[in-house]
Amino acid sequence: MSEALAFDPSSAFDPWSPEFAADPYPGYAELRERGRVHWFAPSRQWLVPRYDDVRALLRDRRLGRTYLHRFGHEEFGRSAPPDWHEPFHTLNDNGLLDLEAPDHTRLRRLVSKAFTPRMVERLAPYVHRTADELVTALLADGGGDLVATVAEPLPVAVIAEMLGVPAADRGLLRPWSAAICGMYELNPGEDTARAAVRASAEFSAYLRHLIAVRRAEPGEDLISALIAAYEEGDRLSEQEMVSTCALLLNAGHEATVNTTGNAWLALFRHPEQLTALRADHSLLPGAVEELMRFDTPLHLFERWVLDDIEVAGVHLPRGSEVALLLGSANRDPARFDRPDALDLTRPDVPHLSLGAGIHYCLGAPLARLELAAVFGALLRRAPGLRLAAEPEWKPNFVIRGLRELLVEAG
Ligand code: HEM
Repeated sequence: MSEALAFDPSSAFDPWSPEFAADPYPGYAELRERGRVHWFAPSRQWLVPRYDDVRALLRDRRLGRTYLHRFGHEEFGRSAPPDWHEPFHTLNDNGLLDLEAPDHTRLRRLVSKAFTPRMVERLAPYVHRTADELVTALLADGGGDLVATVAEPLPVAVIAEMLGVPAADRGLLRPWSAAICGMYELNPGEDTARAAVRASAEFSAYLRHLIAVRRAEPGEDLISALIAAYEEGDRLSEQEMVSTCALLLNAGHEATVNTTGNAWLALFRHPEQLTALRADHSLLPGAVEELMRFDTPLHLFERWVLDDIEVAGVHLPRGSEVALLLGSANRDPARFDRPDALDLTRPDVPHLSLGAGIHYCLGAPLARLELAAVFGALLRRAPGLRLAAEPEWKPNFVIRGLRELLVEAG
């Protein structure tokens, strides 16, 4: 038996415990030190904690986010999900993120045609204005919960604006997104699945209605651009359009909320770094990258092994599942000097928080715009902002963030 298999990773990796979710980094350090790949029996996955391996496997085409483009469930040694999960799977499995080539290639090309740098540029004034308004409202109250009042509303408003969701309907989006994202945690329970299935059915019906409205009355929004691509003869089914719009909300939302909360907690915990940033706002673009590295909001991405691979001498046969630990990779001392230090002036921050390879985050320019807008507004308008209470982490580990972040205007 190889050394990697002799170590029981359960001692270091405890994804269902709130303590681990609150601070997974010591556990990651132990996993990295003990080996490159570890069998984790409770989720039947191979854990991969080191930077070079995570980066290489994200790009390795022998792995996939799905296997259904090549194999049936049984052929792949897995059981099909229960029938009542169908609304969730129809919505989830037809979006860009859960497809592989050739469907992924076709859809990514199409969505990139609609979700262009020009579309992001066009949104910039709206993003900055909204960030300013939210921060102003927080300060008018002398402070409050930064997550609920600033971090959460901004990405939802931006995606709603981008998709052309009318203002009156925007309150619907966040609960749908939160319910669907529950399914991305490890081994979600039945209540989580029921909530996700209900939200998937409601959100799908809503998006079909919105597509019909935009078809009759096109606007400047992304749905109108996707309809135009569809009508120009590019192949994009209505289900793919619905699934991709839902993905933009889900992918573009939770991660941005949690990055904002996690980053400001990190800044409060490193006052010398916050002081340096307040003194020199030109550090902001580099600071956003370092903060994404230091405490990434998305910790684990799964891949199926489609063709046998070998990692560190361990044979992973077709049908295995690999858990790529992005949060651990970003703290790997083999890639980052003093990885547990927050250093906003780090010259080179090739973090993996936005992924790598064919599924690399399509929304990365928008995410960076939103983070720079909200951080900029907080730096300019709230130069004395400080932590008002010790925050609490949500118990979830995969999409990891704070329940609330209470701040005072100072
Ligand atoms: C800080 C915020 C964000 C983080 C940390 C993040 C992270 C990621 C990661 C790690 C992936 C790759 C997943 C994988 O390889 O399995 C991804 C994919 C994706 N992200 Fe983001 N994301 C963020 C914001 C956004 C935003 C704002 C949008 C759009 C509104 C967005 C849209 C997408 C889409 C559509 C994909 C799928 C791309 C594909 O499969 O080709 N993301 N994101």
